[in-house]
Amino acid sequence: MLRVTRRTRKAFGAMSVVAVAAAGIGVLGPVTGCVAPEVETPTYEVGLFPRVAYSGFNPNARFRVMFATSADNPQWSVSDPAIATIEPSPPPNVPGLDVRNLRFALVTTTKAGETTITMTGSGTTLTSRLVVKAYTDEQLAIGKARYENPDPDPARAPCASCHAKPDGVDHSPLKMAGFDDETILGVIREATYPESPTGQSTTSAYAPRGPLKFAEHKWKLTEPETDGILAHLRSLPLGGL
Ligand code: HEC
Repeated sequence: MLRVTRRTRKAFGAMSVVAVAAAGIGVLGPVTGCVAPEVETPTYEVGLFPRVAYSGFNPNARFRVMFATSADNPQWSVSDPAIATIEPSPPPNVPGLDVRNLRFALVTTTKAGETTITMTGSGTTLTSRLVVKAYTDEQLAIGKARYENPDPDPARAPCASCHAKPDGVDHSPLKMAGFDDETILGVIREATYPESPTGQSTTSAYAPRGPLKFAEHKWKLTEPETDGILAHLRSLPLGGL
């Protein structure tokens, strides 16, 4: 009890210093801009992205996903440490995106299941869900073959013929982890995201909706290839790292 009281007094001491400083700045407000209100009552919201991440697990492959936050000095944890590990990561290079205000963490899955990712920073605690699906060696092999192998049917063009080029569109988990299986299959087979967004970018609250610009992005997959291609995409090394 006594220690708590002391800490409380200390905190009050610190707060009143801030308040005095803020009041001082407040007087100069019109001259220096609106610094003071931010010191006392931040109005921005700290973000954590994505709010749900989908990944996979297979003992012979590596499945990773990235989380991003705008909080300062984020501390990361996984509620069920049997399902995944998490560690801070250097920022990925995402073309066209300024990542300077984001902090990143890299999750590596260790078992199938569902768990919660918790981020504490900037005085806030936020959580995201991590959904990890088990994939067999066979599913991974079928997906890799569909992704890479040439085929006489133009609707079965190997994904790699475009995506593995140096300037190919990223569809690694860095880009796609925030989307469930159905959404990704819609993009692959129907060239469209859902009309009402179901998923989220992994670096912001942005949620794409509706048709791709590339309207011919309608590729055929056999039944076994649907899970196979998801297994393969979710196990790709993250773009930008
Ligand atoms: C002819 C080239 C080409 C082929 C073949 C191709 N893609 Fe794509 N893919 C693209 C382009 C270009 C885009 C970006 C489309 C857009 O945003 O308008 C894209 C987008 C995507 C996206 C969404 C990425 C995003 O940023 O939203 C996924 C997922 C994807 N492709 C998966 C696949 C898979 C899986 C295959 C193989 C079955 C495949 N693609 C075959 C060119 C191709």
